[in-house]
Amino acid sequence: MSFYIGPMTDVSTTGADLDPTAQQPALDESVDPTTTGGVDDPGPAGSDDTGPAGSGGRDSLTVTDNRTGETYELEITDGTIRAADLKQISADGQGLATYDPGFVNTASCRSAVTYIDGDAGILEYRGYPIEQLAESSTFLEVAYLLLNGELPNETELASWVHDITTHTFLHENVKQLMQGFRYDAHPMGMLMSSVSALSTFYPDANQISDVDNRQLQITRLIAKMPTLGAFAFRHAQGKPYVYPDNRLSYVENFLAMLFKMSEPTYGADPRLVKALDVLLILHADHEQNCSTNAVRSVGSSQVDPYSAVAAGIGALYGPLHGGANESVLKMLRRIGSVDNIPGFIDGVKAGKEKLMGFGHRVYKNFDPRATIIKKACDDVFAVTGVNPLLKIAQELERIALEDEYFIKRKLYPNVDFYSGLIYEALQFPPEMFTVLFAIGRTPGWLAQWAELVQDKEQKIARPKQIYTGHRTRTFVPMADR
Ligand code: CMC
Repeated sequence: MSFYIGPMTDVSTTGADLDPTAQQPALDESVDPTTTGGVDDPGPAGSDDTGPAGSGGRDSLTVTDNRTGETYELEITDGTIRAADLKQISADGQGLATYDPGFVNTASCRSAVTYIDGDAGILEYRGYPIEQLAESSTFLEVAYLLLNGELPNETELASWVHDITTHTFLHENVKQLMQGFRYDAHPMGMLMSSVSALSTFYPDANQISDVDNRQLQITRLIAKMPTLGAFAFRHAQGKPYVYPDNRLSYVENFLAMLFKMSEPTYGADPRLVKALDVLLILHADHEQNCSTNAVRSVGSSQVDPYSAVAAGIGALYGPLHGGANESVLKMLRRIGSVDNIPGFIDGVKAGKEKLMGFGHRVYKNFDPRATIIKKACDDVFAVTGVNPLLKIAQELERIALEDEYFIKRKLYPNVDFYSGLIYEALQFPPEMFTVLFAIGRTPGWLAQWAELVQDKEQKIARPKQIYTGHRTRTFVPMADR
């Protein structure tokens, strides 16, 4: 049996709903957009703001089911049809569904947080281009923007920075929990477990419909992530954990907790502080990626944000997602010299392995974050000296970009291709790279989580399956098997 999807029949529409660049109106009009995590109206903020999409007309898709000859008209809204509308198409009593492993063409939510145009290489947080934020903003200001929908004024920023700074300490039992890990525990495993454990220290975090409570947990998580990451780092090195120093900025404090020894105050080079701050900004959100989808999926059960973010950390850990930066470094080391690149590329083309740090589900021309990172590389290497692996990375990129295999598949360097080189120059071991990604991504996860919690259209995540197993069988006693 097959079915035929006919052409769109309604030609009287403006087509505005099909414009993927059009921004969507706020979902929950009752939500105060000034509150943290609100689903903000993405309306005009500047002269170049296109504002919400118009609802000029009604587009539809006519579907003919050639199993039955029946025709159905499916409404097109915001460039999508409702998967639930397909249920009415039923020849065998089973409503039609979509099959979409990896969600390659399924929108799971409306979101006003981050906009990406993969073909044009555009990334915007709340409408602000990533290039401008990386150039002119700070990580905490960007976190505020993601969470609140608007850039803070001076007073709001001071208050936000103060709140974050005064929540950096951990309960001593969290420290003990972390000390219980094996000496060689991967810091991402430690981070995931300790974030999850925070839910037991703040059991009131399950009051997710209380806006003040949400704000408190969001503040705590963003404040404590560097402390947890640094403790995990010190643990692997067998060094004493360093407590936060609240006189320092977010990034300076993180670096101090990582690298301070006996000196009274750890002084980081401001150029390196700036580079790390930029890296955190670049990672702060990326709409519905694997880890954000995990946060939303787990959050859809209405669990507390620590548990939801722990799920996101687990998703990020994988080598196809945030773990790619660690894999890139290992790959570059394994290649070892420029002379070995052609052989390595042959192996990739033969399907024996992947060129880590290349390719993206959404970006098919270039990853704007990779462009900014390349510039940050120069800034960092001016302080630390050039990472010898840079030569291999650059040559690998040059060869790959000229090779038909990569051109045909639109494979370009992504954010992870160069970030590892910077992290290594900053003296992070590869296992810590994904921890840095997680610290940067936390405001994005939380902005998306808060949006989910307030979105009345959201339901508990529960995909369908196509069952391929046996049907009802009679149990066979052990002696007869
Ligand atoms: N090296 C070699 N071939 C690749 C690569 C790669 N890095 N990426 C994709 N391909 C090939 C893939 O084999 C497939 O070829 P074919 O059509 O012959 O079967 C084609 O390109 C399409 O790939 P896909 O796997 O269907 O694409 P996807 O959108 O499902 O996967 C991806 C996207 C990022 C998982 C993938 O490109 C990949 O595995 N890249 C390496 C890991 C990596 O760098 N991940 C970081 C992503 S950016 C930061 C983040 O999100 O955390």
